[in-house]
Amino acid sequence: MHSAKARGAYYTPARLAETLCRWAVRPGDRVLDPAAGDGVFLRAARALGARAGGFEIDPAAAKAAGAIRGDFFDHLDRRYDAVVGNPPYVHFTQANAQRKAREAAARLGMRFGSGASVWAPFLVAAAERVRPGGRMAMVIPRETLFVDYAHPLLAHLRAKFPRIDMICVRTFLFEGALVKVAVLLCGPGRPRFRIREVEFPEELTPELLEDDGQDEESFAWSRVPRECRETARRVLERFAPLSELADVSIGIVTGDKPYFLVRGLPSLPVVASPTWVQGAIVKAADLRNRPRLLDIPPDYAGGDAAVDAYLEEGRRRGVHRRYKCAERAFWWRPRMGAPPDAFLTYLNDRLPRLALNRARARCTNNLHRVTFHGSVSVGAFYNPATLLSIELGGRILGDGALKLEPGDAGKIRMPRTCRDPVDAVDAALRQGDAKDAFRIASAAAGLSFREHRLCARAHAELRDIRLRERRMR
Ligand SMILES: C[S@@+](CC[C@H](N)C(=O)[O-])C[C@H]1O[C@@H](n2cnc3c(N)ncnc32)[C@H](O)[C@@H]1O
Repeated sequence: MHSAKARGAYYTPARLAETLCRWAVRPGDRVLDPAAGDGVFLRAARALGARAGGFEIDPAAAKAAGAIRGDFFDHLDRRYDAVVGNPPYVHFTQANAQRKAREAAARLGMRFGSGASVWAPFLVAAAERVRPGGRMAMVIPRETLFVDYAHPLLAHLRAKFPRIDMICVRTFLFEGALVKVAVLLCGPGRPRFRIREVEFPEELTPELLEDDGQDEESFAWSRVPRECRETARRVLERFAPLSELADVSIGIVTGDKPYFLVRGLPSLPVVASPTWVQGAIVKAADLRNRPRLLDIPPDYAGGDAAVDAYLEEGRRRGVHRRYKCAERAFWWRPRMGAPPDAFLTYLNDRLPRLALNRARARCTNNLHRVTFHGSVSVGAFYNPATLLSIELGGRILGDGALKLEPGDAGKIRMPRTCRDPVDAVDAALRQGDAKDAFRIASAAAGLSFREHRLCARAHAELRDIRLRERRMR
């Protein structure tokens, strides 16, 4: 038999199972738990007067639960008034036996790759067992919101259930739990999609589940303190997407950074790490003692002893055969492009940077290149509403870093202003006084004192939650 871990057998605390059943189950309902474990949901549903049954592949657990011993994916026939439970969280790669799960979801039009966890097709198949007008209440991994298949999965559920309410728990459900969870409530009624968040599982009360408060479409917005939302929304609406003001693209792909960053050979100034950006401006002095980007002209015909020796060394090291080098006309010459107007850091811990390029430098693909269409206020970038838009639109990685692909960067909201306090902001950032930089930027962006205060609070809240959660997802 499979081990508990291989089966994804982490049981739900009885109180939470009861709360979910109170939301989903009515007396007399036919209720299904597709993966019943030791039957905590079935007992809760029966206590509410429902006729509850389920499936469970572990014989001992099935017996304890009063469930049918067997694979849920072999019993995809009946419909139920309510489906409740906590699907197994096992990755496909860990359990080849989950082939049936994937096939069942594929029959319903949902395809999951080999990296997906079995909970996803479980959810799709379980939802299918709910009769029209019925309800589903599930404990699911919180990663639902972050994985690449989350969007199609939620879209699939939204097509089936008018109301979807998801409540994420920031801390772990119980000691020893491996994943953080969310509660997913799907049901009939006025169409809505809402995401909420609580700190502790104890906050998941029947009252909270029934609460008919405001809708919040995106997970990130649901984290913005309620009292800041209206103001933050209005400010961001006044702003323009960066894509309207500038082009953002990845920096120069060298193919072999250690080789292409040189000292003493023909070379160009380059920014090759976000840590080289000190403030809101990159000045020639900032790059003075840094390595530079190898710059051998395309028509170079040999004859410079130092250059020839370096090219020879590159060949010896196999640089010319590296993927990106081999496909170029001259393996030793990356496509440089013109110096961009500014650089944008795209893997951010605390404060993302847009830095004016006064050094006329290039950048490697450790930063994004930004080329302005007209005048752009780099200093005003540091107002808290723009920074909030980055927290709202970036992708949170497992280590808490916020990643901005060029497409995400285009959605950054920038103030439409001609005032550019970039020197003052640069000075404040170099002195480590980010708050002062934010204030100067807000004044240039035309934010009122109140707007500044509320957006700064919202930005700090999102950033701090993100940083607190590192390593916890
Ligand atoms: C996360 S546990 C949850 C159990 C219970 N619903 C609860 O909330 O406590 C998932 C259970 O699914 C069972 N399971 C895994 N794959 C299954 C399948 N294909 N059909 C039925 N049960 C399955 C595991 O043995 C495990 O007991």
